[in-house]
Amino acid sequence: MARHRVCGENDIPVGGMKAGQAGNETIVVFRLDDGFYSTQNQCTHLFASLHKGKIVEGGQVECPHHRTRFDIRTGQVVCWANHPPGIQVLNFLLAKKALKTYPVVIESGQVFVEV
Ligand code: FES
Repeated sequence: MARHRVCGENDIPVGGMKAGQAGNETIVVFRLDDGFYSTQNQCTHLFASLHKGKIVEGGQVECPHHRTRFDIRTGQVVCWANHPPGIQVLNFLLAKKALKTYPVVIESGQVFVEV
Protein backbone atom coordinates (compact mmCIF):
# COMPACT_ATOMS: atom_id res chain seq x y z
CA MET A 1 0.00 0.00 0.00
CA ALA A 2 1.40 3.39 -0.98
CA ARG A 3 0.53 6.84 0.32
CA HIS A 4 -0.48 9.54 -2.17
CA ARG A 5 -0.97 13.25 -1.46
CA VAL A 6 -4.30 14.49 -2.77
CA CYS A 7 -4.65 18.08 -1.51
CA GLY A 8 -4.36 20.32 1.49
CA GLU A 9 -6.62 19.69 4.48
CA ASN A 10 -8.23 23.11 4.06
CA ASP A 11 -9.00 22.52 0.39
CA ILE A 12 -12.07 20.51 1.41
CA PRO A 13 -14.63 22.16 3.70
CA VAL A 14 -16.68 20.05 6.10
CA GLY A 15 -19.51 18.62 4.00
CA GLY A 16 -17.41 18.82 0.84
CA MET A 17 -15.56 16.43 -1.42
CA LYS A 18 -12.75 16.50 -3.93
CA ALA A 19 -11.74 14.15 -6.72
CA GLY A 20 -8.12 13.16 -7.07
CA GLN A 21 -5.63 10.60 -8.20
CA ALA A 22 -3.94 8.09 -5.91
CA GLY A 23 -1.55 6.00 -7.95
CA ASN A 24 -3.62 4.38 -10.68
CA GLU A 25 -6.86 4.89 -8.80
CA THR A 26 -9.24 7.79 -9.39
CA ILE A 27 -10.59 8.53 -5.96
CA VAL A 28 -12.72 11.04 -4.14
CA VAL A 29 -11.98 12.40 -0.67
CA PHE A 30 -14.93 13.39 1.51
CA ARG A 31 -14.80 15.56 4.58
CA LEU A 32 -17.57 14.76 7.05
CA ASP A 33 -18.04 16.26 10.49
CA ASP A 34 -16.07 13.40 12.04
CA GLY A 35 -13.17 13.34 9.60
CA PHE A 36 -11.93 12.47 6.13
CA TYR A 37 -12.89 9.41 4.07
CA SER A 38 -12.02 8.17 0.62
CA THR A 39 -13.68 5.90 -1.92
CA GLN A 40 -13.28 5.13 -5.59
CA ASN A 41 -14.77 7.96 -7.65
CA GLN A 42 -16.51 5.77 -10.20
CA CYS A 43 -20.05 4.71 -9.34
CA THR A 44 -20.40 0.93 -9.32
CA HIS A 45 -23.73 1.14 -11.13
CA LEU A 46 -22.85 2.66 -14.52
CA PHE A 47 -19.56 4.44 -13.88
CA ALA A 48 -20.60 8.07 -13.28
CA SER A 49 -18.19 10.28 -11.35
CA LEU A 50 -19.41 10.50 -7.77
CA HIS A 51 -17.70 13.83 -7.11
CA LYS A 52 -20.31 15.37 -9.43
CA GLY A 53 -23.04 14.12 -7.11
CA LYS A 54 -23.87 15.39 -3.66
CA ILE A 55 -23.44 14.50 -0.01
CA VAL A 56 -26.75 13.78 1.69
CA GLU A 57 -28.01 12.63 5.07
CA GLY A 58 -24.75 13.54 6.78
CA GLY A 59 -22.69 10.68 5.40
CA GLN A 60 -23.97 9.36 2.10
CA VAL A 61 -22.95 10.29 -1.43
CA GLU A 62 -25.65 10.32 -4.07
CA CYS A 63 -24.62 9.53 -7.64
CA PRO A 64 -25.66 12.24 -10.13
CA HIS A 65 -26.94 9.73 -12.72
CA HIS A 66 -29.44 7.32 -11.18
CA ARG A 67 -29.24 8.45 -7.55
CA THR A 68 -27.62 5.40 -6.05
CA ARG A 69 -26.59 6.28 -2.51
CA PHE A 70 -23.49 4.91 -0.83
CA ASP A 71 -22.41 5.13 2.79
CA ILE A 72 -19.22 7.19 2.55
CA ARG A 73 -17.69 5.61 5.66
CA THR A 74 -18.14 2.00 4.55
CA GLY A 75 -18.74 2.16 0.79
CA GLN A 76 -21.91 0.06 1.19
CA VAL A 77 -24.95 0.67 -0.99
CA VAL A 78 -27.73 2.40 0.94
CA CYS A 79 -30.15 2.79 -1.96
CA TRP A 80 -29.53 1.28 -5.39
CA ALA A 81 -30.38 3.09 -8.63
CA ASN A 82 -33.93 4.44 -8.51
CA HIS A 83 -34.06 7.32 -10.97
CA PRO A 84 -35.55 7.89 -13.52
CA PRO A 85 -38.61 5.72 -12.90
CA GLY A 86 -38.15 2.41 -14.71
CA ILE A 87 -34.38 2.20 -14.18
CA GLN A 88 -35.08 -0.58 -11.66
CA VAL A 89 -35.65 -2.92 -14.63
CA LEU A 90 -31.89 -2.82 -15.16
CA ASN A 91 -31.29 -3.84 -11.58
CA PHE A 92 -31.88 -7.47 -12.52
CA LEU A 93 -28.70 -7.22 -14.59
CA LEU A 94 -26.69 -4.85 -12.42
CA ALA A 95 -26.34 -6.26 -8.95
CA LYS A 96 -25.59 -3.96 -6.04
CA LYS A 97 -21.90 -3.44 -5.55
CA ALA A 98 -20.16 -1.52 -2.77
CA LEU A 99 -17.50 1.12 -3.39
CA LYS A 100 -13.87 0.44 -2.62
CA THR A 101 -12.76 2.51 0.35
CA TYR A 102 -9.27 3.74 1.20
CA PRO A 103 -7.58 4.89 4.41
CA VAL A 104 -6.98 8.64 4.69
CA VAL A 105 -4.10 10.08 6.68
CA ILE A 106 -3.77 13.76 7.60
CA GLU A 107 -0.19 14.88 8.13
CA SER A 108 1.17 18.41 8.37
CA GLY A 109 -2.07 19.80 6.99
CA GLN A 110 -1.97 17.55 3.94
CA VAL A 111 -4.45 14.84 2.91
CA PHE A 112 -2.97 11.50 1.91
CA VAL A 113 -4.85 8.46 0.61
CA GLU A 114 -3.38 4.99 0.94
CA VAL A 115 -3.96 2.73 -2.06
S1 FES B 1 -24.19 5.54 -12.67
FE1 FES B 1 -24.38 5.93 -10.55
S2 FES B 1 -26.40 5.40 -10.11
FE2 FES B 1 -26.19 4.87 -12.21
